[in-house]
This record gives sequence, C-alpha cells and structure tokens, in this order.
Amino acid sequence: MEVVIATAGELAALAADAIQGLLATKPTAVLGLATGSSPLGIYDELARRYGAGEVSFAQARGFMLDEYVGLPAEHPERYRNVIETEIASRVDFAPGAVQGPDGLATDLVAACTRYEAAITEAGGVDLQILGIGSDGHVGFNEPGSSLASRTRIKTLTEQTRADNARFFDGDVDQVPRHCLTQGLATIMSARHIVLIATGRAKAEAIHHLVEGSVSAMWPATILQHHPHVSVLVDPAAASRLQLADYFRSTYAAKPAWQGL
Ligand code: F6R
Repeated sequence: MEVVIATAGELAALAADAIQGLLATKPTAVLGLATGSSPLGIYDELARRYGAGEVSFAQARGFMLDEYVGLPAEHPERYRNVIETEIASRVDFAPGAVQGPDGLATDLVAACTRYEAAITEAGGVDLQILGIGSDGHVGFNEPGSSLASRTRIKTLTEQTRADNARFFDGDVDQVPRHCLTQGLATIMSARHIVLIATGRAKAEAIHHLVEGSVSAMWPATILQHHPHVSVLVDPAAASRLQLADYFRSTYAAKPAWQGL
C-alpha cells in the first residue's frame, strides 16, 4: 500500500496520470468508477485532458461501484445519472460502455448476479477509483460487511445516510435506505486500486485503513491484503496517520518514472 500526502489538486492529477498511462498502454482498459465528492477532481482533470486531446476513452469500459435502490430513473442523485454527468458525458466513452448495478430491477438479486458476470466478462477491472466513508466503508460495504462479499443488496448506516444528505437538500429522509454495491471481494479483484480521500472527517477511516487491524468493522482495511493500492490523501485526511512522516519522505524520494 502506497500512501501519498499532497494537495487535492495534486492528488487528482496523480490519479489522472495513472488512468491516462493505463489507457495509453491498454486503450480497452476497464475502469472502476466511484461516485460521491471524492473523485470529482479526478473526473474534472480527465475531462480537461480529454478536451486537450491527451486521453481517449473510446475503447474503454466503465463499471460503477454502487447504486441506490429505488431512486427514479430521472433522479439527479441516481448514481447512473451522477456518473453520466460527472464523467461519462464529458469524455468519449462509447454508448453503453459504462454500466452500473440496476437499482430499479424488479429482481435485485438477479441484477447483482448479472452485474458480477458483466464485470467478469469484461475481463475484470484494471483500475478502480475509490472513495471512503467516514465509517470506513468502500463502495457501500458498511461496517460488518463480509470481507469476502460480492455484489449484493446492502442497508446504509444512519451515518452514511446523514453524510449523503448533503446531496439531497440536506434532508436525510430523502436518502434511500438500500443500495446495490460491489462487494469487498469484487473490489479486491481489481488489478490496481486508487483510493482518494480529503478532509478531516476522513482522518479516522484513513488511519484504520492504513494502520489498523484488518476487520469488518472498518471494511476498507481489507485493502491491506491487496498487492497494488494507492492511497491518495490530503494533509487533513492524513492527520491521524502515525507514519505520515515516513510516507512523506518515501514519496519525496520516489523516482519520477515509477508512477502510482
Ligand atoms: C460512492 C461510494 C462511496 C463513497 C463514500 C465517500 O460510489 O461507493 O463509498 O466513495 O461514501 O463519499 P464522498 O466521496 O462523497 O465523501
């Protein structure tokens, strides 16, 4: 696990570098796309680079991490619509190249099974962008989630619903209670995971992710078992890391050619 402590702008550029580099060597790459506020800087940077002719997604595929259950098709906070607005429509993904779990399916269990099969058929995710919840969730794998879980229905914690109320006019009652999410084992199948977190509200979760014991109480800690994870944090999110000085000096001495 590599930890990079830098400004939000620098972190977004680093993640965009990794995605641009991947697409240069593998134009058909499969990207794992997170929603929420954490990846927005990355999406802005990718859109800018696409506009400048520096990167193309024309042959790439995208798989979303998760989706609310039951939000109407046209709801702006339905994650399918959020991803369309924040990244898919701003670059040159082919029509249908970005998929997400179907939170409006009549048979949600079958939808989860289909989604796992679609990821497998696409060859698996090459690079997964992740955020992290203040309670340590990744995707919507809340505390207590099986570390071996696959895409399934989950119930959001009240903490997550309160955190996400800002997207629903500050009204927690509008935040759905249920979601479909890639499981922790699904996320762990990605070949490279880039997790980005900013702000003091994420500091405890980042401390557990990097320095805590692996436990379903802090689901992100399963990433300690992954061979290629890049944790990108700003100074506030890094503020509880005991090893912050070590991570800073390690990154300062890193050869420029190495990338994430
Ligand atoms: C979003 C997702 C969530 C968020 C997390 C952090 O697809 O899966 O795990 O990444 O809730 O959200 P933000 O980035 O809004 O703080």
